[in-house]
Amino acid sequence: MIATLAKRYLPAVESIMQQIINGIALDNAADFRTMLQYPFGWVDAEGNPYQQTTGKRIRPMLVLLCCEAAGGTWDSALPAAASVEILHNFSLVHDDIEDNSEVRHNRPTVWKAWNTPTAINAGDALFGLAFHALYQLDSSVIAPTVILQAWGIFNRMVQELTRGQHLDMSFEQRSAVSIDEYISMISGKSASLLAACSEIGALVGSGDAERARAFAAFGFNLGIAFQIRDDILGIWGDPNMTGKSAATDIRSHKKSLPVLYALERSHRLTELYQTGDSTLDDEAVAEAVAALNAVGAYDFALENEERYYQTAMSALERAQPQGEAASWLVQLAETLFQRAR
Ligand code: IPE
Ligand code: IPE
Ligand code: MG
Ligand code: MG
Repeated sequence: MIATLAKRYLPAVESIMQQIINGIALDNAADFRTMLQYPFGWVDAEGNPYQQTTGKRIRPMLVLLCCEAAGGTWDSALPAAASVEILHNFSLVHDDIEDNSEVRHNRPTVWKAWNTPTAINAGDALFGLAFHALYQLDSSVIAPTVILQAWGIFNRMVQELTRGQHLDMSFEQRSAVSIDEYISMISGKSASLLAACSEIGALVGSGDAERARAFAAFGFNLGIAFQIRDDILGIWGDPNMTGKSAATDIRSHKKSLPVLYALERSHRLTELYQTGDSTLDDEAVAEAVAALNAVGAYDFALENEERYYQTAMSALERAQPQGEAASWLVQLAETLFQRAR
């Protein structure tokens, strides 16, 4: 299913993103451009063409589908689609530094392939280029007031995303985190972007801010379910499928949803997590996973993922999506719910 959507939308998305990223000044800094192309999977670390798929590109697809489902023509939203995917890649480049993650998309992360200072700088460049992409929304096709509203949504989302990332990191140092605090954290770090994708897409498609907010509720709840799935995959996923190294969340004391549930029920997990700043070794990770399994943390997380997914589907119905894009949105959400990567 994602393959059908990818075929329909992604060539245009890749093309506009490449135009934006490849457009940066090259003066004496060809390796800088390589660092910006690398996260998208266009090149290897030497700058040679790289042909494998890296990211799923669900955020640009969400923008374009919501634009169509709200009655618009999808290509008018292409700059916004490019913008959210570039911003997402900025967040991944910095996230991998923040989480000390060495592998993403089955290859070294940017900081690992180069070094941390230059990776921070490359992330900063992607952050700026995301705004540059949004700037390409065409005011001869979309009302300038609508473009301004889209900028406002994008800006607030960036504030939310970084608030969420801050909480995620600060929770590593805390022994107790409530489910409400966790939901607030993932609302920021993940759901805010999926909400903004849906809202901006629908806004560009309809010009109607209220209608767009109904789509935002869909994207937001989908984003919560999406992050809970990421938490599940971070513990029980196959590293070959996820493209990330195994159990990095546990290793660095992340308060993911299965862990929060188990910390209240397993004395052993609490002990394992009380190791100060040092990361857990392989043996401790295996013990932690056994403790999670023993208290049913997997089922708890899956039930929560399903609940938010159902809420997302109800929100989508209320948004009254139209045309073929309506059923594609449902299918996209279904695919994400069960995904293994
Ligand atoms: C990873 O997002 C970060 C989260 C918000 C969980 P994706 O799983 O969408 O990452 P890519 O782009 O497909 O690699
Ligand atoms: C996802 O962070 C949110 C952002 C990157 C903003 P995670 O740390 O949970 O995602 P992965 O598992 O590294 O992709
Ligand atoms: Mg991470
Ligand atoms: Mg993180």
